[in-house]
Amino acid sequence: MNHAIRIERTGGPEVLQWQQVEPGEPGAGEVRVRHAAVGVNFIDVYHRTGLYPLQLPAGIGLEAAGVVEAVGEGVSEFREGDRVAYCHGPTGAYAQARVIPARVLVKLPDGIAFDTAAAMMLKGLTAQFLLRRTRRLQAGDVALFHAAAGGVGLIAGQWARALGVQLIGTAGSEEKCRLALENGYAHCINYRSEDLVSRVRELTAGKGVAVVYDSVGRDTWERSLGCLQPFGLMVSFGNASGPVPPLTLGDLAARGSLYVTRPTLMTHLAERATQLEMAAELFDVVLAGKVRPLIGQRHALRDAAEAHRALESRSTTGSIVLQP
Ligand SMILES: NC(=O)c1ccc[n+]([C@@H]2O[C@H](COP(=O)([O-])OP(=O)(O)OC[C@H]3O[C@@H](n4cnc5c(N)ncnc54)[C@H](OP(=O)(O)O)[C@@H]3O)[C@@H](O)[C@H]2O)c1
Repeated sequence: MNHAIRIERTGGPEVLQWQQVEPGEPGAGEVRVRHAAVGVNFIDVYHRTGLYPLQLPAGIGLEAAGVVEAVGEGVSEFREGDRVAYCHGPTGAYAQARVIPARVLVKLPDGIAFDTAAAMMLKGLTAQFLLRRTRRLQAGDVALFHAAAGGVGLIAGQWARALGVQLIGTAGSEEKCRLALENGYAHCINYRSEDLVSRVRELTAGKGVAVVYDSVGRDTWERSLGCLQPFGLMVSFGNASGPVPPLTLGDLAARGSLYVTRPTLMTHLAERATQLEMAAELFDVVLAGKVRPLIGQRHALRDAAEAHRALESRSTTGSIVLQP
């Protein structure tokens, strides 16, 4: 008997239901994967609340790692027994086993454990496109990264350190700031108790930073703009505190000819060749020990609601992994 977490309506964590679901046989271009570990991401919360609408009823979750159990017609890249991982495609990763299009899977190197993969595929590829593709950061660049002690945040800190990039982090407590500093951040500002803009100006000799990576959204948007140097780039990539307020172009002019982008991992992963290149780069830094994803919390898959409560209450650090 197989089980999965599904939602029939949007709402709080209580809408996550543990249901008996048989994954069925893979069709053309599909494989069935038995999950060994499942990742939890903030986008799962947006799906659950309806901020990003799903067609209901629906499976939930985008990230998992496991073993290929059956292969559909026309699939030549994978066979039974392959270790694989993924972080996009149709939702439904919160499951013991599922059928999924083969084109979203990557083979997992033997040196990377399943739970590490589930902790890093979505968050690590996000760090990859932020630091390497949105603007290709170079040694010596200085950037600001919000929610530094979170899942994406800790991986970004470690990766930036390996590139020689100076990241100034922000986090909501002293303890989280300590963790960020241990994970590659050059500085960390507790944005609940310190004045963010003046601290950033102080740390950059009045100049401001070249790039701000803001996934907090509503609560930090204004202050983030205030931290940029002329021609600086605002990368708005999430809305943990709510969507950002409407922006007028005149604002960007007045603050020094700023650039703004609102990237998504899904756009970056749309081409198979790019997807494989991005994953290869992530696997390289992980196998070299430069990036070590930290699993801050583990829950049984059936207790996914607990994981959501923890993530939304800002009490987690690093990644959350569910054990099927
Ligand atoms: N654009 C993309 O393709 C993409 C891809 C992956 C992730 N993301 C975004 O990146 C962000 C990080 O994702 P993650 O899964 O690694 O989560 P996470 O960073 O582990 O958790 C979110 C963190 O945001 C901070 N936060 C600030 N205000 C908050 C609020 N009102 N409610 C909840 N959290 C708040 C908290 O840290 P503090 O307590 O330190 O403030 C919290 O721990 C999310 O916004 C996510 O949507 C975007």
